Amino acid sequence: AYKAAIFDLDGVITDTAPFHFKAWKKLADELGIRFTEEDNEQLKGVDRMESLERLLALGEHRYSDEEKQAMAADKNAYYQQLIEQLTAEDILPGVMPLLDQLAKNSVKLAIASASRNARTILNGLQLTDRFDYIADPTYARSKPAPDIFLYAAYGVKVHPTQCIAFEDSIAGLQAIKDCSMFAVSVGHDDLRRYSDAHVHRLDELLT
Ligand code: G6P
Ligand code: MG
Repeated sequence: AYKAAIFDLDGVITDTAPFHFKAWKKLADELGIRFTEEDNEQLKGVDRMESLERLLALGEHRYSDEEKQAMAADKNAYYQQLIEQLTAEDILPGVMPLLDQLAKNSVKLAIASASRNARTILNGLQLTDRFDYIADPTYARSKPAPDIFLYAAYGVKVHPTQCIAFEDSIAGLQAIKDCSMFAVSVGHDDLRRYSDAHVHRLDELLT
């Protein structure tokens, strides 16, 4: 049996993609760049600066590092306003019973999110206390590098091979496989080929 369960946050515990989309779209509109929901879909699991780079690559103009820093800060300020509205009601179906069941079986619980807003989001969802460890992405190379999952495993003192991890992004699933954890993909069927097991939603796991 697994000794730790490691969760991605955005798209697994709660759906923040519409907020990211709204905030990136606002920036794109200001810059005259066409940015669609499909483009946003490609940014799942991709960290803030890399997401900005990919958005800017959809346009013609090139920007300085200073300009990019300012754009990322603006996007984040707007995103932070949007996620203020998160409450426990925004926890995705199946998450609470799954966390309960795992905790009851003494499985350690950790978060491995690329988001620097992870703590704010968990606080809004009133879930902070449910996790034994929240890995800090500050010094982690971004997914698909395995860093953040390794930090999470280290944080709960469980060897990676004894961890099960849940992800909704391809980059995240690659990270999980790269450190030999059992990977569960959550969401689209196309994720199946990157994972060891697949569910559309976490409530499918409940017996
Ligand atoms: C998650 C989301 C990405 C987001 C990244 C960084 O991985 O899926 O869409 O870009 O976190 O989020 P942040 O809150 O730090 O900008
Ligand atoms: Mg995600």
